[in-house]
Amino acid sequence: EWSMENYIEIEIEKIRNEVGDRKVLCALSGGVDSSVVAVLIHKAIGDQLTCMFVDHGLLRKGEADSVMKTFADGFNMNVIKIDAQERFLSKLKGVSDPEQKRKIIGNEFIYVFDDEAKKLDGFDFLAQGTLYTDIIESGTATAQTIKSHHNVGGLPEDMDFVLIEPLNTLFKDEVRVLGSELGIPDDIVWRQPFPGPGLGIRVLGEISDEKLEIVRESDWILREEIKKAGLDRDIWQYFTVLPDIRSVGVMGDARTYDYAIGIRAVTSIDGMTSDWARIPWDVLEKISVRLVNEVNSINRVLYDVTSKPPSTIEWE
Ligand code: XMP
Repeated sequence: EWSMENYIEIEIEKIRNEVGDRKVLCALSGGVDSSVVAVLIHKAIGDQLTCMFVDHGLLRKGEADSVMKTFADGFNMNVIKIDAQERFLSKLKGVSDPEQKRKIIGNEFIYVFDDEAKKLDGFDFLAQGTLYTDIIESGTATAQTIKSHHNVGGLPEDMDFVLIEPLNTLFKDEVRVLGSELGIPDDIVWRQPFPGPGLGIRVLGEISDEKLEIVRESDWILREEIKKAGLDRDIWQYFTVLPDIRSVGVMGDARTYDYAIGIRAVTSIDGMTSDWARIPWDVLEKISVRLVNEVNSINRVLYDVTSKPPSTIEWE
């Protein structure tokens, strides 16, 4: 009879048989899929697994630390953190076209992973969090082709690894059950989707350190307030975007000329279509007040009330 417990035992046995005493490398992003793969394989082969976590400088506030804390400290796994902020940000300098930005980030991820993997010796296997749905979708031209998607974990084709994809018969909801069963904390198991290009596609147009800081801080405040209001499981995704707009405001007696920040919050089943989330006005008000008071260079807050289609969830 099928149960998640049986599934874990069977998968662990399979992984042990396949890997033997050899070594496995895993690209860990901190998202649900790669986290579950990493913990499952670690359970099977322990220190024969090494995870690589690339910080591309486009992560959310606290994200890198929390990944290291959860997996390196909490699960006692070998996690190598690659600080690649400089590499990514210098490649993105002067680039404002959304597709161009996506391509640069996706390609750079592959180069960084490749470079770092070359420094390591003796890895025969590469673990990936491919789901059943990824396999179905990759064969067909879906709405995803509207934007080029570079999942963190999309890796070089010429790399000499044998792939291990233990989730490739599962759907997302099953992966969450598996993750809980494996003892992965709720904030990862129930984490909202976060795109591979990260905050890089939430600063519209050219990316700068100042602008990244604004989306990072505002995203943090939004997440705090949504959680406080108990809405974090009802809303599929909620984040802030920084359009390249400045407008006039007044602070104390002084005129300001600062950025407007956008709030995007949507309900969805699968990300293919979405509706804008009806966040209660008093919650929106709290968020708005905090954003203007606590984030530098913000004097106006916008709420995105478009569904997908015709919009997309991300603004780039
Ligand atoms: P859009 O903006 O196309 O997004 O409506 C649909 C869903 O996909 C996520 N998204 C990405 N996920 N790599 C990812 O792993 C990407 O490049 C990427 N672009 C968008 C988006 O956050 C939403 O959940």
